[in-house]
Amino acid sequence: MSNFFQNKKIFITGVDGFVGSNLAKHLIGLGSKIFGLAKNNKKESLLYYENLDSKIKIYYGNVTNRLLLKKILTRNKIEIVFHLAAQVEVGIANKNPLNTWETNIRGTYVLLESIRKYSKFIKSIIVASSDKAYGSYPKKMLPYKESYDLRPIFPYDTSKACADMICRSYSGEIFNLPIVVTRFANIYGPGQLNFSALIPDLLNSIIKNKVFKLRGDGTDLRDFVYIKDIIKAYLVLSKSLYRNKLLSGEIFNAGTNKPIKIIDVIKLFYKHFQKHEDFEKIKNLIKNKTKSTGEIPFQSMDYKKLYKFFKWKPKYNLSNTIEETYKWYYNFFKRKI
Ligand SMILES: NC(=O)c1ccc[n+]([C@@H]2O[C@H](COP(=O)([O-])OP(=O)(O)OC[C@H]3O[C@@H](n4cnc5c(N)ncnc54)[C@H](O)[C@@H]3O)[C@@H](O)[C@H]2O)c1
Repeated sequence: MSNFFQNKKIFITGVDGFVGSNLAKHLIGLGSKIFGLAKNNKKESLLYYENLDSKIKIYYGNVTNRLLLKKILTRNKIEIVFHLAAQVEVGIANKNPLNTWETNIRGTYVLLESIRKYSKFIKSIIVASSDKAYGSYPKKMLPYKESYDLRPIFPYDTSKACADMICRSYSGEIFNLPIVVTRFANIYGPGQLNFSALIPDLLNSIIKNKVFKLRGDGTDLRDFVYIKDIIKAYLVLSKSLYRNKLLSGEIFNAGTNKPIKIIDVIKLFYKHFQKHEDFEKIKNLIKNKTKSTGEIPFQSMDYKKLYKFFKWKPKYNLSNTIEETYKWYYNFFKRKI
């Protein structure tokens, strides 16, 4: 693996995001030449905390800026792309969806169109769709398979499904770009600074001794996959597509295939840190709550296809990553005090 990525010219959109910064960190270690797009120079990212920014070339700007994308792609003779930039906050998308449509949908077609028109060197484009693109299926249909139709309703989910389908056009016979789409479950781990996501929010409350406020009643089923497993999936997909264009147009799910109730995730964390009384308080607070609105009730991803093609399976789970994740957040908060 290390030889393959060495000296490869790689473009990561959303490089200062949770997944983007972890991917950049890993690829720097493998000797790649990284070019990244970040929306602004707000230094709230693992990229800056771990001094990775000095090891890559960062362009600041919007993923909908065609001229900027043209410049990045042509000037640097980019061969490999990971498209991760997105407006990911479900709550923001529900309140005011315009920027979510713009970033997630327009951002995707402007990028793919820029590659189609201006880029001669591209051999692999991995586009991050999401488990949310599927929309909602009944519990008995868990885990979700790649063959399921996309039937989203909520705005973030729809924006990801639109981007996902735009990839079909660009990888299809007319434009023939080498694209693989990923639909991954909830990713967690060091560097995730979206505090509307469950695990960052939980650790924020635990470390700061604050009362954790749950959005729904805790009964939703979710699938949590660790960032290190996801980085491995991204690398194997990118390398394989680069070497074999026949993979273009394929879609891959990844998750743990082990759905867990939100309340059980909370319990696991509070038990681990021996905060039993706090957990009882949370349980009391949600007693009279109803299910959260604007969220899919049951999701977990079937990773059989990724296993069949590349022998990928998750190595980590919530229990064996809790300490590593906690330590990262602890140091993150300490740095900020
Ligand atoms: N984290 C998860 O649980 C998860 C699960 C499945 C899929 N995904 C997908 O993976 C990708 C990465 O997610 P993440 O968790 O790292 O999110 P993140 O919010 O941490 O990172 C997203 C990045 O996109 C950038 N961005 C947002 N709007 C932009 C714009 N208009 N122009 C340029 N850049 C912009 C942000 O600055 C940020 O760096 C997203 O496409 C997301 O939909 C994430």
